[in-house]
Amino acid sequence: MSLYSIILAAGEGKRMKSKLPKPLQTAGGKTLIDRVIEAVSSAGSEKNIVVVGHMADKIREHLGDTAEYANQFEQLGTGHAVMQGIAPIADCNGSVIIMCGDTPLITSETLISAYKEHSAEQRSATVITALCDNPFGYGRIVRSNGSIAKIVEQKDATDEEKLINEINSGMYIFDIQKLNSALSRITNNNAQGEYYLTDVIEILLNDGEKVGAYIADFEETIGVNDRAQLSYADYLLNKRNVNRLMADGVCILNPDTVRVDDNVKVGCDTTIYPNTILEGNTEIGEDCIIGPNTRILNCRVGNKTELQSSVALDSTVGSNTSVGPFAYIRPNSTIGDNIKVGDFVEVKNAKIGNNTKIAHLTYVGDADVGERVNFGCGTVVVNYDGIHKHRTTIEDDCFIGCNTNLVSPVTVRKGAYTAAGSTITDEVPENALAIARSRQVVKDGWAKGKKK
Ligand code: UD1
Ligand code: CA
Repeated sequence: MSLYSIILAAGEGKRMKSKLPKPLQTAGGKTLIDRVIEAVSSAGSEKNIVVVGHMADKIREHLGDTAEYANQFEQLGTGHAVMQGIAPIADCNGSVIIMCGDTPLITSETLISAYKEHSAEQRSATVITALCDNPFGYGRIVRSNGSIAKIVEQKDATDEEKLINEINSGMYIFDIQKLNSALSRITNNNAQGEYYLTDVIEILLNDGEKVGAYIADFEETIGVNDRAQLSYADYLLNKRNVNRLMADGVCILNPDTVRVDDNVKVGCDTTIYPNTILEGNTEIGEDCIIGPNTRILNCRVGNKTELQSSVALDSTVGSNTSVGPFAYIRPNSTIGDNIKVGDFVEVKNAKIGNNTKIAHLTYVGDADVGERVNFGCGTVVVNYDGIHKHRTTIEDDCFIGCNTNLVSPVTVRKGAYTAAGSTITDEVPENALAIARSRQVVKDGWAKGKKK
């Protein structure tokens, strides 16, 4: 049987007070609507139809061809929105999951389990519900003899119905044809003058159809309406990832201060210190020490490596390597094994061979550095001439004296030395010493004369 989804994302989302439409707000490193689409796709939806209205262009631009679209030019209610969304699949047999574009915590596991129950019970509709302490604002699930009888909106509820703490999550699974038939019969005869999707439940029951409720964990059903809820959703999503790493054997100190994206992997016995941010497609090996105060984005890090108070972006760092404190590894760098990248060192678009030491106050940009090279303090690879970037090569076993400028493009051949304070503009041959500074002049007694 085919499974599709309709995601309602035409509303204005006024309470966010943002230039962005609500479904494009970010929680846990991804937009709200991307998370919803991921959940329904992982649950088996073959086609996802997003109902757009308010700032439709921005949503279309963001999702591109990962979704199909239906326009809702006037926001006349959730039922009206689904009428637009169902059009592309109106002739299909099968089921449709209805979601809102602002529920980032829903998991595919919950949707799969609800869909299984829906199919096993051969229902026409399954409403995903939740129990909560403060149901204010939600539609309430009215049951009769234990079974769902209808959904009443907050504004239409009687005082007695307002006491019900089982709420409508706004997520449903329907048989497409049964939904289509019921939708054609809803009216806007209610407190808000809207076409309520929720009314189809009572209509289907009156038709003698089977309808059920699947009770999910309330946390998964949370919708985001304002900035406080957005930050809470972000907190919960992050907590899931932090807990996932801890379950995999990672030691995390002060987990509330650590941020971990969905696609981050960390090996066992690695310790993560406070104020660490692991983002994007980052993979860290075993027995590492990461943080405190470190940000790693889209990097691969080997085993037994330490990164302290540093930033590393789009790069690779090997094993037994030490980075920081206060190092900046910029994109497209490959740093090997047994390396020291010490304090106030910046590496950019460079390859650093194994056993090399760049201990302090050094810039290595657009360079290929061999193995066992030692950089003295204050070395600069002068990679930019004001118009173009150039590459420099430093071969194995070189010793770069303190405060050397390597004016790119330039090559320092195997085993060569540069004298402290040199500005190197020409190739240094193998095993040579290059001195490129003026000789010291000593004027005896000069200071005495000045003081008189
Ligand atoms: C809806 C449900 C309520 C449920 C709650 C869960 C109805 C009538 N009520 O109420 O039972 O407890 O969700 O959060 O369905 N939208 C459109 N077009 C419209 C109207 C809404 O696309 O014309 C979209 C909105 O962008 C939003 C979603 O549908 O993503 C829900 O709409 P909203 O107005 O927030 O519904 P609620 O009043 O919260
Ligand atoms: Ca809502």
